[in-house]
Amino acid sequence: MSKNATVITYGCQMNVNESAKIRKIMEDIGYDITENINESDVVFLNTCTVREGAATQIYGKLGELKQARDARGTKIIITGCFAQEQGRKLLQKFPYIDIIMGNQNISKIPEAIEKIERAQELKEAGKLRDKKLKHVVLTGYDDELPPRIDADFDNDITASMTIGYGCNNFCTYCIVPYVRGREKYIPMEQLVNQAKEYVKKGYKEIMLLAQNVNSYGKGLSENETFANLLQALADIEGDFLIRFISPHPRDFTDDVIDAIAKNSKIARSVHVPLQSGSTKVLKDMNRGYTKEQYLNLVNKLKSRIPDVAVTTDIIVGFPGETEEEFEDTLDVVRQAKYDTAFMFMYSIRTGTKAAEMEGQIEDKVKKDRLHRLISLQTEISGELSNEYQGKIERVLVEGPSRKNKEMLSSRTSSNKVVLFKGDSSLRGQFVNVKINECRTWTLYGELVD
Ligand code: 5AD
Ligand code: SF4
Repeated sequence: MSKNATVITYGCQMNVNESAKIRKIMEDIGYDITENINESDVVFLNTCTVREGAATQIYGKLGELKQARDARGTKIIITGCFAQEQGRKLLQKFPYIDIIMGNQNISKIPEAIEKIERAQELKEAGKLRDKKLKHVVLTGYDDELPPRIDADFDNDITASMTIGYGCNNFCTYCIVPYVRGREKYIPMEQLVNQAKEYVKKGYKEIMLLAQNVNSYGKGLSENETFANLLQALADIEGDFLIRFISPHPRDFTDDVIDAIAKNSKIARSVHVPLQSGSTKVLKDMNRGYTKEQYLNLVNKLKSRIPDVAVTTDIIVGFPGETEEEFEDTLDVVRQAKYDTAFMFMYSIRTGTKAAEMEGQIEDKVKKDRLHRLISLQTEISGELSNEYQGKIERVLVEGPSRKNKEMLSSRTSSNKVVLFKGDSSLRGQFVNVKINECRTWTLYGELVD
């Protein structure tokens, strides 16, 4: 009888990509993938630890999985940043976890499962003396790049490609450099060949992933820069879009801006994480740029790439942030005019520098600042949305809208969602749509020739 595996993902695009790889590894060893944990023999929780909330969700899920384990002997495997950070400690609270594994070790999943299965067999036969065999904990860092796993992704339109792993920046609030290790980049030739394969298979979007895409090429040859990578990918024949997350504002060089400006295959949507608009807070965050340098970058992006949409990440309530410094953030938000922003309250991550800083901000103040920021950004998003009124936009059709089945959901190169009436056979195609109605987060339109 065939066996089933479920992979539950928390966190960022990198985790989404790694979950796809885990599914592929499991399929390769004979498992069917299901979303129903009640019919699963193995359940993976691919975890995140960037902000505090993730841990609570993961604990809840682990509690739920205990029942499946008691009822059916389901194996529980925890991977990702939270697993890497906590390691063996997780076993104190959840002794029924079978495998704990960091991101760099996922290629060892088959071996680890085999070990657990062997231990179970021995236990059933009454032969198990070495209790240690019951769990596998693999959270070491490898100096080597993880093996490439050519994963077919959850959908057949967007393929995501990891171009690099890890981060050397040590922003003082951030746990990522501790759980994902130092930066390593994949040679350009490999990436270009892989992208060619994806385009040949019919993918319409290639999403490049790294903690800091602008550092691409560190440790590789002189020619292997992010700008050259973008250009080489844009030179691949075919109709497709290239997206990337995330660049670091400090390392956003002119050649990258030029590459985007020159190539319409590179999406008109650039994510430029601000984090704070105050030069003092940015310094405490170890971000390596000032308020003015950041605004210059956004202005340069908007003037060289007129149709670009800029998005961002912002943290409010970083230790020591005064009301005035928070207002600097509001000021940048007003000037930069982001299409959308991901906005967070600062959350303490043990082991980071900021966790030890004086002047931790009360929750009440953080919440108040977050609300004020969200309402300003919502207003700006609404204004920018209105600028699409009457325009004809080329969009990539993703399929029926989840909320309104009669409509097709699509996205512009600037990453704006457009709903319109059309046949579901248009899925995966680029079409032109005239925009008739603009709401803050969604545009509505009609198909045109
Ligand atoms: N608290 C709040 N937000 C954080 N981020 C990273 N670390 C923290 C933290 N400790 C946010 C940053 C980053 C995004 C992925 O998560 O804005 O860009
Ligand atoms: Fe974290 Fe900063 Fe690295 Fe981004 S650049 S992953 S925020 S340390």
